[in-house]
Amino acid sequence: MIKDIRVSRIFNSRGEETLRVYVETNKGVFFSDCPSGKSRGSAEPVVKSFEEIISFFTEFRKNLIGFEEEDFSSLDEFVEQFAGERFSRIGGNLAIALSQAVVKAASEGGVYEFLRPGAFVFPYPLGNVIGGGRHGGFTDIQEFLVVPVEAENIREAIETNFSIWRDVKQIAEKKGLYFGRNDEGAVMFKGDHTAVLKVLSRVCEEYGARPGIDVAATTLFRDGKYVYEKEGFSLTPGEQLDFMVELSEVYGLVYIEDPFHEEDFSSFSELRRKVRSLVCGDDLFVSSPERLEVGNTMKSASAVLVKPNQAGTVSRALRTVELARRSKMYVVVSHRSGETCDSFISDFSVGVGAELIKCGITGGERVAKLNRLIEIWEEVSRTRVPRMARIKG
Ligand code: PGA
Ligand code: ZN
Repeated sequence: MIKDIRVSRIFNSRGEETLRVYVETNKGVFFSDCPSGKSRGSAEPVVKSFEEIISFFTEFRKNLIGFEEEDFSSLDEFVEQFAGERFSRIGGNLAIALSQAVVKAASEGGVYEFLRPGAFVFPYPLGNVIGGGRHGGFTDIQEFLVVPVEAENIREAIETNFSIWRDVKQIAEKKGLYFGRNDEGAVMFKGDHTAVLKVLSRVCEEYGARPGIDVAATTLFRDGKYVYEKEGFSLTPGEQLDFMVELSEVYGLVYIEDPFHEEDFSSFSELRRKVRSLVCGDDLFVSSPERLEVGNTMKSASAVLVKPNQAGTVSRALRTVELARRSKMYVVVSHRSGETCDSFISDFSVGVGAELIKCGITGGERVAKLNRLIEIWEEVSRTRVPRMARIKG
């Protein structure tokens, strides 16, 4: 039974203020942190400052004492109703940190095991090797990613991503094109998208991995056009579609995230019909079951990004996964660019049997998630034979 709940003002990997929630039960004290994004969808939950949360927390807290942690879905339901549209009454940051802490409290044997006992399928780590856009870098495309599709276990998969990241960094350094690491630890490579994709696809080939991209196109969309400001060109929506098809074909992309702005469900559908790459919606769906339903009727995407803090509660994130499964979509569990060392998403990804997990490659807050995956793999191995998910495309 939940006996007490406390909030604490902590910091994320960017040094910005964020929130930790402590939940005390008869079994002990459990906590979880809220991450923060920089390329946020406009339909995401509202974020409240610590001062705002403190102003109503004492009263709000009284409603939660006495809930049974095992029945986290009832608590989530109460919070969702209380919080209202986009969690505007209490903030999605409070809601998700609370929900995750309660799930941790409920799951003595690990969150992955609690969410789905017997879970043994592992996601491929979708690693961010070269960065741009708002996260820092020289391209307007936000992320140049890799999927180690030939790796046979999680450690090998993580190691492959590290090797690719290291090789790309070395190539950049040798050519005098290395500008450091960005918000997610990705290399800031002094070059345009063509230069970057050429290097990345060559290194990928050496390691049996496949490249992908997150365009985060909402951040580029201005007055009806996609403005590639850093690289100095603009595209109409039609040209953007052709551009995506070309990148997919030339570089054999396995994954394309947010190729169009957050309201353009129909261009997503068109691209999906034209390419072999997985087409994934991030800002398009904002991990919301309601928006995913709209996308499904239009067959907008073959994959959905699930960021628990976009969903607002663990139960809501699970509903999004459930809907995705019904329409045979891939599930990609994801971190945010501003992170803490909380590794809840690693457990969540195994628990829901996600095909991919996007949690970066380097930096303590990213490595915490990767190492947790290794820990879970080793735990599962004691009783079963774990395996990697199957990726097509
Ligand atoms: P964000 O970006 O966490 O900065 O919003 C991540 C993404 O677009 O996938
Ligand atoms: Zn994204």
